[in-house]
Amino acid sequence: MDPHVLPILKCPRCGATGSFAAARGLACGRCDLVVDGGRGFYDLLDVARQGEPAAISSEQRFMESALVARAYERMWRPAFVRLFAGRGAGAAVGGFAGELFIHKNALSLDDRQGPWLDLSCGPGLFTRALAAASPSALVLGLDISRAMLEVAAGRVRGYTNVVLVRADAHQLPFGDGVFEGINNSGAIHAYDDAEQVFHEIWRTLRPGGIYVGSTFAEAPHLAGRLAARIAGIRRYDPSELRAQLSRLGFAEYEELRLGGAFVFKARRP
Ligand SMILES: C[S@@+](CC[C@H](N)C(=O)[O-])C[C@H]1O[C@@H](n2cnc3c(N)ncnc32)[C@H](O)[C@@H]1O
Repeated sequence: MDPHVLPILKCPRCGATGSFAAARGLACGRCDLVVDGGRGFYDLLDVARQGEPAAISSEQRFMESALVARAYERMWRPAFVRLFAGRGAGAAVGGFAGELFIHKNALSLDDRQGPWLDLSCGPGLFTRALAAASPSALVLGLDISRAMLEVAAGRVRGYTNVVLVRADAHQLPFGDGVFEGINNSGAIHAYDDAEQVFHEIWRTLRPGGIYVGSTFAEAPHLAGRLAARIAGIRRYDPSELRAQLSRLGFAEYEELRLGGAFVFKARRP
């Protein structure tokens, strides 16, 4: 376990910050929570008290499947980005390499020291890329899906600066003001209460910290609109998102449209 992680963790049971010590997994020094870390990620969901989270959309039920998690990066993601957002979403910027270029620049990765949070990391596509681009910084990958994290754990072996945690984006297990930047690709449409997640992002960013995300606006064709409705994917009106983030105090909102998808950036002043 990277020694820089322990001080930033917040116990999901008692709410204490900096109370964890590395034991067999992780143990909170203020309450009786012991966190399992045996499968390549730390499970900070406190399932013993709060139970397993219920998947709220059919998309999220797929995200819990081991088969989808394994096929996600090569097949699922490219196919669904194209279906939901049209050709322009990937082709215009050269697929994932282009997406990564945009996210890295938006986070000002080269000029900052981290730590970085890859929120809703899935099998860790951005987590690995951020860790490789910022080798001296700590990168945390967080997701709620056990299946996704099991795949991510296999793929981040060899990245000594990556730590994976299982948690709910609505209740981040981190202290206040700990992250230099938060990457949140392709996930806000999946949250039960995105406003609560934005609140948590604000809370855990340092002043000056940068939030970069991506999601879907309007699908350019009927098939995409139907597929999104069946999958329970919420479409975002970029101007609504801008207003929502500015109400929470975020500043310097910027966005880039890529077909029916868009990447956005905002800063905690
Ligand atoms: C479409 S995937 C995006 C994965 C990755 N960020 C990418 O761009 O490839 C959405 C991810 O959000 C995760 N997710 C959904 N609800 C979540 C929640 N409440 N807390 C944390 N992660 C969540 C899912 O498990 C899934 O891995």
